[in-house]
Parts: sequence; structure tokens; C-alpha cells
Amino acid sequence: MNADSRTRLDRTPEWTALAEHREELGEVHLRDLFAAEPGRGSGYVLQVGDLHVDYSKHLVTDETLRLLRELAAARDVVGLRDAMLRGDRINTTENRAVLHTALRAPRNAVIEVDGENVVPRVHAVLDKMAGFAGRIRSGEWTGHTGRRIKNVINVGIGGSDLGPAMAYEALRSCTDRDLTVRFVSNVDGADLYEAVRDLDAAETLFVIASKTFTTIETITNATSARAWLLDQLKAGQEAVARHFVALSTNAGKVAEFGIDPDNMFEFWDWVGGRYSYDSAIGLSLMIAIGPDRFREMLDGFRIVDEHFRTAPAESNVPLLLGLLGIWYGNFHDAQSHAVLPYSHYLSRFTAYLQQLDMESNGKSVDRDGHPVEWQTGPVVWGTPGTNGQHAYYQLIHQGTKLIPADFIGFAEPVADLAPGLVAQHDLLMANFFAQTQALAFGKTPDEVRAEGVPEELVAHKTFRGNHPTTTILARELTPSVLGQLIALYEHKVFVQGAIWHIDSFDQWGVELGKVLAKRIEPALTDGTDIPGLDESTKALVAKYRALRGR
Ligand code: F6P
Repeated sequence: MNADSRTRLDRTPEWTALAEHREELGEVHLRDLFAAEPGRGSGYVLQVGDLHVDYSKHLVTDETLRLLRELAAARDVVGLRDAMLRGDRINTTENRAVLHTALRAPRNAVIEVDGENVVPRVHAVLDKMAGFAGRIRSGEWTGHTGRRIKNVINVGIGGSDLGPAMAYEALRSCTDRDLTVRFVSNVDGADLYEAVRDLDAAETLFVIASKTFTTIETITNATSARAWLLDQLKAGQEAVARHFVALSTNAGKVAEFGIDPDNMFEFWDWVGGRYSYDSAIGLSLMIAIGPDRFREMLDGFRIVDEHFRTAPAESNVPLLLGLLGIWYGNFHDAQSHAVLPYSHYLSRFTAYLQQLDMESNGKSVDRDGHPVEWQTGPVVWGTPGTNGQHAYYQLIHQGTKLIPADFIGFAEPVADLAPGLVAQHDLLMANFFAQTQALAFGKTPDEVRAEGVPEELVAHKTFRGNHPTTTILARELTPSVLGQLIALYEHKVFVQGAIWHIDSFDQWGVELGKVLAKRIEPALTDGTDIPGLDESTKALVAKYRALRGR
């Protein structure tokens, strides 16, 4: 592939063929697609691990899918995938390998970075985590005053928070219910205050999670947490060793902070923050669910990794989901993508995916630094059903925007619910199926009239339908299934980045705000004049200071 065709994706023959095909399909309705293809409902289905993936309610035909696969082939998605899996430095702007898949590789795997097999190091850290988690869970590890640890506070932000926080909620039914596990991320002091206000410091462990150990929010909160602990315990620095552990790639900064290097759990620069919760960053989760369930989760990741690596294009689920996103984002002008889990336990799932997807693919220059001439990553959003149904589904059903959506549901409720609450599960899932049905097929004006609706209300009560959805169904939300789901989305994001020819593994877009915040802080605190500050921000800073009586 020459440089021009890479940078001008939209001039490739495969892209042009898709654009023409889109024209031909026009406003074809899912009702017509189903009528034309008996068996579509059971035919447009794939299985990966425990995940049943139904893509029948998409605005695609066999021809669409064939053309999309041709685009993937022309963009050499498979070549980039293999380069990632073997440890090539595909994160070119940071000159790093991208090897989150090594975090769940079996002990006997060999994956080399700069000639060194990284798998033994991965397992050494997992073993160390398991030993530590076991000591916390058994009560063998005690705090400074000899009391058992009952509270675990993860302090981290972005990838050092969203993953473990999401997974802790998702797997709550597997957690040790005698432990209190909380997550502090926001530099707003209220976050830490609320997390510790009812806790006994003598029974509290802080897990400071930061890949770089320089992130201002995390270091500020960790410093405040240390001050709180020492104050509560009326103890000196020596108490830190029993109450603080670190998860990081930066041993020097961890030591500088005062955490014993023996209490540091390492990971490496080839693990991106948003791809890191199955690394040492998962320690709080491992303490909560235990090492065995954590390993089951890693096994789940691995199932999908293997599938992504080996399944042919026709049945490769991450490839399919990536291509469907391209179809809507690039050929239907869809701007956003909703992820709607019908599981209370997945309440943080979409927030986690927001970083995974938007920090990875929210890019407007390609790998070579040229502006892209096509849409890249979508806005990802959503909350668990059925709550969303009573909030924003109105817009999905009857608004003017095309919003492709993923519906994720389970056949079994996971918790030890009372029988009455178990019975509610069918109602939850009835809503799940009803929504995808209504979104796809809608309700025609004639159907509305047949119900005796007065003519002036017919338009209001008509549902156009034709809103595409993917249904992902599994028997139960287990640790393995969670791992499978996350790996599925990781690889979907990868596929899209490969096609758009962007670096999905850097995040330069978060840097400017960090630099400006550092510059602005002294102006807020002591009125320092900031040369070159724009007029609007200057006025707002002055207003803020006046409101604070400064
Ligand atoms: O938001 C930018 C970012 O670098 C994320 O990519 C990362 O997950 C987060 O900050 C936290 O970084 P760290 O783990 O180094 O504290």
C-alpha cells in the first residue's frame, strides 16, 4: 500500500465501491431486508466464546459485508493485527509496542519486546498480586496498628480507575462482601472525602494506581490520602508501608512518593492506560474477587484474543463490529454509538468504553501526521437499560439522528437474588428484546390507524424504525464473559483505527488541558498574572476569585 492510498482512504477503490453501494441501497428498510431474506434472523449471527452476537438488525446485506471485508483486506488490518500481537512498535508516535494481549497470554507463551520474552514478567506480577490479594483477603496482612484490612481504596484516574471500577461493579456478585472497595479519581476533594469519611484508617489500604505516577489528580489525591491516614492514626511515615501500595511503571516516582518498592506492582510501557485493567492495575479488583476469578477473567480475554487472531474474516466478530461502525460512521454520517447494557452490574461499562474508544480513535491526523479526510471515532455513550428507556430512548426512536446501538444482555441474573427479584429478570429482558424490535421495525402509520388513533396523532405515534442494533447475549455475566466482552471491544477499536490509519494507542489530545491547568492554578490561588491569557478566561478567573472572596 503506498502512502497516498493510506492517507487517502476515501480514494481507494474499496471505499468508492462502498459509497456506490450505499447509494444503491438508499433508504432500504430493515422490514424489506427481513422480507427479502427469510432466515436472516438466525443467519446473521456469530458466536465467540460465550457471546452470541446477532447482527441481523443492521442496514447491511451480504454484499455490504463483502465490500466491508474487502476494505479491511485492502487496509491490511490483519497485517497490523499480527504486528501488534508479535510486539512490533505499532504505537509509532510514542515508539511503543502495544501488547495488552500479552497480559493474558498463557505461562508458556513467548512474546518478545526487544528480544526479551515478556510473558514470564507478566506472570511474575500476577503471582505477586495473587499472593498479596490472598494475604489481604485472609487477614494475614494487617495495618500499622495490627488490625485487619477491611477497606480498599483505589486512587487513580482514566485507565487507572475506569477499568477496575467498572469490573468491580460488573463482578460484584463474586466479591468478598466483607470488604469495602471504593474508587477515588476526581481531583475534586469531595471524592476522597466521601470515600473515607466513614472508614477507620487502621483498616484501610490505599492502592495508588498510576502508570506514570506523575498524573496530577492521582498524586494530589494520594498525598491527601496519606495525610488523612497519618493524621487518623497519629502515626509517622513508617505507617505508610502497611497502608499504601502502588501500581505503576515508574519505580523511581513510587519510591519518591514514599511507597516501599516491595509494595509496587509493576507493568510496562507497552500496556496503554486504557488497556491496562488486566495488568497490575487490576489489583483492587483482584483483592475484591480473588485471584482465581481474576484468572478466569483473563481466560475470557484470551478466548477473544485467539478468536480475533485466528477466525476467518467472515466469522471474526471484532472485525465485524469494527466494520459495522465504519459503515455507519463513514457511509451513513452517524456521529455516535450507544452501548446499552441490560445489566445493573454493567453500570460503569459504557463509561469504561468511552475512554477505550474515544481516547483511542478520537484522532484527526493519520499515522503520518496528515489530516484525515474522513470521520474517525464516534461519540460513545449510554447507560444501563431500562433506565435509558425513560430518559433518552425517545430521541433514538423518533429523533432525527441515526444512532447505532449495542444491546448487551444475559439469560440469567447473576446475584443471589430472592425468588421475587429473580422473576424480574424476564421483565428486564422482555424490555431488551422489545427495544431492539421496536427500533428495527417501528410502527407504520397504517398500524397506528388500525389501533383507532385519531388522524391528528398518527404522525406522532408512528415509529419509523430502521435503527440498527447489535444484540450481544450470553448466559450469565461471569468473570470470563466480562473478559470476553472487553477484549471484543478492544479489538473492535483496533480494527477501526487500522482502517482509518490512525494511531489508536497515543492520546496527545489530553496534554494541552493539563499544561494550561498548571498555568492557571496560581492565578486562582494567589492572583498571579498570567501573561498572554485570553480575555475570556481572564474575566472568568477574576469572577471566580471574587466569588471566593479573594
Ligand atoms: O487521560 C490521559 C491519561 O494519560 C490516560 O491515558 C491514562 O489512562 C490516565 O491519564 C491516567 O494516567 P496514569 O495511569 O499515568 O496516572
